[in-house]
Amino acid sequence: MNRLNGKVAIITGGAQGIGFAAARTFCEEGAKVVLADFNEEEGIKSAYALSEDGHSCSFFQTNVADRDSVDQLVQFTVDTYGAVDVLVNNAGITRDAMLKKMTPEQFQQVIDVNLTGVFHCTQAVLPTMEARGYGKIISTSSVSGVYGNIGQTNYAASKAGIVGMTKTWAKELGRKGINVNAVVPGFTETSMTENVPGHVIDQMKGQVPMGRLGNPQDIANAYLFLASDEASYVNGHALHVDGGIMM
Ligand code: NAI
Repeated sequence: MNRLNGKVAIITGGAQGIGFAAARTFCEEGAKVVLADFNEEEGIKSAYALSEDGHSCSFFQTNVADRDSVDQLVQFTVDTYGAVDVLVNNAGITRDAMLKKMTPEQFQQVIDVNLTGVFHCTQAVLPTMEARGYGKIISTSSVSGVYGNIGQTNYAASKAGIVGMTKTWAKELGRKGINVNAVVPGFTETSMTENVPGHVIDQMKGQVPMGRLGNPQDIANAYLFLASDEASYVNGHALHVDGGIMM
């Protein structure tokens, strides 16, 4: 129950889905959590729900693609809770289209949020982590980024980039007491997958040796492990949580 006792965590995209499951899990393990999300309505509701349950949780409206917004988020977190111990770069979007039809805008939007957003957030928390010689940075990739996925040129590029940045930062920051890792979810039941037709979901399930899609808690548990000191010698790793869809 106390694996993150007193730790301060920023979870981007924390208003719903995997990010919200992670926020609840981190709170239950003793962390103080800032939900950093673009969606104000959902973010306020989610932070309120966790606060009502007696947890320390705040919402800060953030656009991870906008550096000023990210700087304000980090300033808010340090002013409110005194530090940032854990950053979970979980916010992500899709704008799917086949290569032939994908517009440059669709390509760029996904890169701006999923890849540049991770760069902004990680760079912005670095001074406070470096100053204290402690930090955990966890970024969310995807099986689409590792194996490719039809209709996801932009998304796959952003998620593959996350693995490259993670390994680079693990090398740069390990000596400073900062662990940098990625989680690679398989298809997970959230709003991101709710518009996928039923027969495609059945096909996806058929490819997973576990015979089911992931749920947000499956991914939140991986974030928790990497955020905890049980993972203090895990660095530069891309942890697949995908039911064994690819091996
Ligand atoms: P979701 O769509 O339920 O939640 C994403 C959250 O990110 C939303 O609350 C949204 O408001 C927020 N967000 C979007 N753009 C933002 C921005 N510019 N700034 C701040 N917040 C922003 O999605 P889900 O499924 O919970 O995804 C979480 C992460 O897991 C994403 O990075 C996604 O790419 C990744 N992932 C999801 C998979 C799935 O099958 N659901 C599979 C593999 C990876």
